[in-house]
Amino acid sequence: MIKFKNITKHFADGTKAVHEFNLKINQGELFVLIGPSGCGKTTTLKMINRLIEPTNGQIFIEGKDIRDWNTQALRWNTGYVLQQIALFPTMTIEENVSVVPDMKKWGKQKTKKRVDELLDMVSLDPSLYKNRKPTELSGGQQQRVGVVRALAADPDILLMDEPFSALDPLTREQLQKDIRKLQTDIQKTIVFVTHDIDEAFALGDRICLMNEGKIVQAGTPRELTRQPANTFVKEFIGDKKNEWETPVSEIMDPHSEFIASLDSLNELPLYTAPLYIFGANHQFLGRRQGKEIVDHDISISPETMLQEAVYDFEKTDADALPVIKEGKLIGVLSYKDIVRYLKDVNGPLERESM
Ligand SMILES: Nc1ncnc2c1ncn2[C@@H]1O[C@H](COP(=O)(O)OP(=O)(O)O)[C@@H](O)[C@H]1O
Ligand SMILES: [Mg+2]
Repeated sequence: MIKFKNITKHFADGTKAVHEFNLKINQGELFVLIGPSGCGKTTTLKMINRLIEPTNGQIFIEGKDIRDWNTQALRWNTGYVLQQIALFPTMTIEENVSVVPDMKKWGKQKTKKRVDELLDMVSLDPSLYKNRKPTELSGGQQQRVGVVRALAADPDILLMDEPFSALDPLTREQLQKDIRKLQTDIQKTIVFVTHDIDEAFALGDRICLMNEGKIVQAGTPRELTRQPANTFVKEFIGDKKNEWETPVSEIMDPHSEFIASLDSLNELPLYTAPLYIFGANHQFLGRRQGKEIVDHDISISPETMLQEAVYDFEKTDADALPVIKEGKLIGVLSYKDIVRYLKDVNGPLERESM
């Protein structure tokens, strides 16, 4: 855990970069710092690994004041990735990734093994890439190497300062996916700085919005969209809404072809599947199977968020699930509904011209 206690940073020229900053970042969390240019994000990040010393206050890592850490141990424990691809140009990819393991005197075998493992992790075939020089890689590939270099010595914390902002949108999206996956796999605490709200929402377990050196609001993407602290938050987020955080009631089809009343059952073709049946008062009765109605125990409640609902689909073969409220069948959620909804909220897909 990283804890900021009353952290203030005033630079020598009088600039108040960070003011009375109080924050806890949990173990294994992907925490995003966001805010307009100059709001103090980089300064905040650099205070974590002591590239900048605060004017006032304390920072704790794993409960210990960072001033009580050995500086070198602290730096090794906090991998740092910058926006500018900062690979050493004359070294090979393997040598670049090996820098910190070499300093830590890991030995040739262990380091080699680690380099291969890391390059594999970000989909760079070691046999193909490790002997190349940085200029023989694309921008996105170089940035991937930058990320794994920061991970090489297995730090607990990864600090990333706008690491993808110099990349084209497609590469950037791919790297965002990589970093999410990486974090799920390796459970590092990641502090990720960006000024891009879409990136923040795509990545953050929690997001901290800063302005003029202060925290305006810190919370989950859902908290920020649902309960913005003030108009600054609202305006910064814009009408950005995380589509996965939409309740099923807004996506389901109340008049779905997969719904039928008990009365109408005989008139319906047998091939409609699944078919969910309701009786008097829309009471849910079950699912038609052959000529029978059988119990159906996987249902969704209308308040369920889309992101949770999709897991219910994994438990079943059905392409559509009944939405039940107080025992009543109020609609059906199908894959088709989900795709249509996502398409509507995201607008038409941009196609690349040939
Ligand atoms: N070394 C420095 N000396 C004086 N002012 C600085 C220094 N570094 C940053 N600042 C100022 O502190 C404020 C916060 O900067 P920074 O943390 O880099 O913002 P961000 O990363 O959010 O764009 C800005 O006003 C910036 O100009
Ligand atoms: Mg910055």
